[in-house]
Amino acid sequence: MTASHRHDVLIIGSGAAGLSLALRLSTKLSIAVLSKRELREGNTLYAQGGISAVLDAGDSVESHVRDTLNAGAGLCDETTVRQVVAHGPDSIRWLFQEGVEFTRDAQYKDAEGYHLTREGGHSHRRVVHAADATGRAVEDTLEEQIRNRANVDLFEHHTAVDLIDAARIHPRAAASVSSGTSTSSADARCIGAYSLNSLSGEVETFLARFVVIATGGASKVYLYTSNPDVATGDGIAMAWRAGCRAANMEFIQFHPTCLYHPQAKSFLVTEALRGEGARLLLPDGERFMPRFDQRAELAPRDIVARAIDHEMKRIGSKYVLLDISHRKPEFIREHFPTIHARCLELGLDMTREPLPVVPAAHYTCGGIISDTRARADLPGLYVIGEAAYTGLHGANRMASNSLLECLVFGEVAAQDIERLAEDWPEPTDAPSWDASRVREPDEEVVISHNWEELRRFMWDYVGIVRTNKRLMRAKRRIDLLRQEIIEHYSDFRVDTDLLELRNLVEVADLIVQSAQRRRESRGLHYTLDFPQRDESQRTPTLLIPDRYRPRPPRWAD
Ligand code: FAD
Ligand code: SIN
Repeated sequence: MTASHRHDVLIIGSGAAGLSLALRLSTKLSIAVLSKRELREGNTLYAQGGISAVLDAGDSVESHVRDTLNAGAGLCDETTVRQVVAHGPDSIRWLFQEGVEFTRDAQYKDAEGYHLTREGGHSHRRVVHAADATGRAVEDTLEEQIRNRANVDLFEHHTAVDLIDAARIHPRAAASVSSGTSTSSADARCIGAYSLNSLSGEVETFLARFVVIATGGASKVYLYTSNPDVATGDGIAMAWRAGCRAANMEFIQFHPTCLYHPQAKSFLVTEALRGEGARLLLPDGERFMPRFDQRAELAPRDIVARAIDHEMKRIGSKYVLLDISHRKPEFIREHFPTIHARCLELGLDMTREPLPVVPAAHYTCGGIISDTRARADLPGLYVIGEAAYTGLHGANRMASNSLLECLVFGEVAAQDIERLAEDWPEPTDAPSWDASRVREPDEEVVISHNWEELRRFMWDYVGIVRTNKRLMRAKRRIDLLRQEIIEHYSDFRVDTDLLELRNLVEVADLIVQSAQRRRESRGLHYTLDFPQRDESQRTPTLLIPDRYRPRPPRWAD
């Protein structure tokens, strides 16, 4: 018999979204937080530039809203944008109260003394930061706070496998009679998740009254990415399999400037560098961004990444250069200490020379649909952070709006859970995971080969520039991989590599399906077959899984 756990709230993921929610919930609720590796590992830890919020007296909510809508290329949901932007200042204050030390500068008296930097798409300085390691400052603080909460049980090295729906017995659960069929008369409701304890190799059962997906994005589906290894879209895939709708999955953001160096795996060079005057140059020293956009290096990311991609292909170069060496060395060392130190380790001195950079997959703008209360389609299930589609980012996320979204929707979900908690039912029992009918995997090479193949063709065929033909090729390969993985999953004992690959293929399929549906170029989706924007297609791309049930049972209001 494998372990079974029971809590009021199960939070899957321990980044800014998951931990801020856990800290916002009252200590009366028992909470479990699952994390795939160590608690701190996730995109949040690596965030550099900062968090956007209107703090300066010369700035305004209207201006932040307008910039976000502009960057989103006509596809943002204005209600969500207003909701998030309006909560910006309070979110920063909350982080400060929890203990986050942001960089200060006496010059910014109006901005509560915080130094404000600037990034692409922002028409004002409004990015609060902790030098160039904002994510580390946030994650360290939230981790310290959460480890002191007696009502929170932390489960590190636990990989959630699938959600548990009260109305359906999971195909790999003990009482399964036939895969995926409904065998219960209970209403559809999320009552927990199965999770692989990667230290013991056992799949454990977590039951909860409320379940929250805070598992981050899916950029590991691409060969080159700024994201750490955990960003495999697990929550998006799990919620999709459980019958929740997804939206805007074609809008994958490529960050323009990741360090180009054989030893610099996924190392980002923050956009704040450009905010403080860095210029993009071709290897011969020519500045090229003004040819593409009047905002030059501070145009939104989709424009800058595409311009770099275009120039690299045009001149046959493997990289372009990012140069801030005209600023004083003391300024560079003070504002960008992490990047400066890492580059020095790699033999590059950014105070004296430009850095070689390339675009890489960075952020998943789409995700599982989550409403203004952070609720997903399945009652009892919330989705927050990068895994969610809230409508904030539209066709292209503006820099530093993501951490803000995590904080705001962490708070929103906490408020909704508190409101419903008194009357919300206990989870029914669920059968435990059954590993008696599977064998040890016989060929690990199937998994490693398919991981590599998937990430390579996603990069080549579904990257910054797409075509119908490339998307069709990708789709054919995804269908084949999916078949192999389903066979592997049903015959063999699960491990993290297999689970992640299963999720990545699911997410790749959602990305390609969405890209095939959008027959125009908009924001981050650029296709040579339809190079223009078409205003008749100014709607989010909605994907509906077979298991989606539009009718009740629904959430209580
Ligand atoms: P994450 O922080 O990625 O956390 C996800 C969590 O889920 C992790 O704990 C992971 O272990 C866990 N998890 C995943 N799958 C499972 C599973 N199956 N079972 C259990 N646990 C699971 N945004 C900004 O606003 N400003 C910035 O300056 C900024 N800089 C960035 C720099 C880099 C290099 C990167 C990669 C991103 C940056 N972003 C920035 C984006 C931002 O960091 C992320 O969008 C945000 O941190 C996402 O937070 P999250 O809580 O949703 O997910
Ligand atoms: C960066 O610092 O350039 C990343 C900011 C972001 O992704 O919002």
